[in-house]
Amino acid sequence: GAPVKIDISKLDLGQRVVEEWRGQPVWVVRRTNDMLNALPKLDGTLKDPDSSVESQQPGYARNEWRSIKKEYLVLIGTCTHLGCSPKYEEQPTVDLKFGGFLCPCHGSKFDMAGRVYKDVPAPTNLVVPPHSYLSDAVIIIG
Ligand code: FES
Repeated sequence: GAPVKIDISKLDLGQRVVEEWRGQPVWVVRRTNDMLNALPKLDGTLKDPDSSVESQQPGYARNEWRSIKKEYLVLIGTCTHLGCSPKYEEQPTVDLKFGGFLCPCHGSKFDMAGRVYKDVPAPTNLVVPPHSYLSDAVIIIG
């Protein structure tokens, strides 16, 4: 499939934009400082806090934020269990006290870097697709 351009110039803090690339949903979330600050605290509750499974992100997103720019999270919006699309929980919930993504099918939970929690069926973190910045306002997926 052809690369897809996503305009992020209108994204407010905490907001997500959804596009499609190769028949899959792609999410870009502009993370708040609260979301970013929570990430290191969650490491002990996650299956792969250090993004050690190489298939789940390009090398340039294998860092604390799983992203090129700290503020912008780019993910394939497909659960790594059986492929449902997790719901974005921007506000803290009982299941996700720092926000994140909750899969409606079997309850897999992911943090605001797409990292999977320990006590759920999904085996791996959500996938970060190959992407780059055309400018501050535009991300290219693919
Ligand atoms: Fe998401 Fe099963 S498909 S938890």
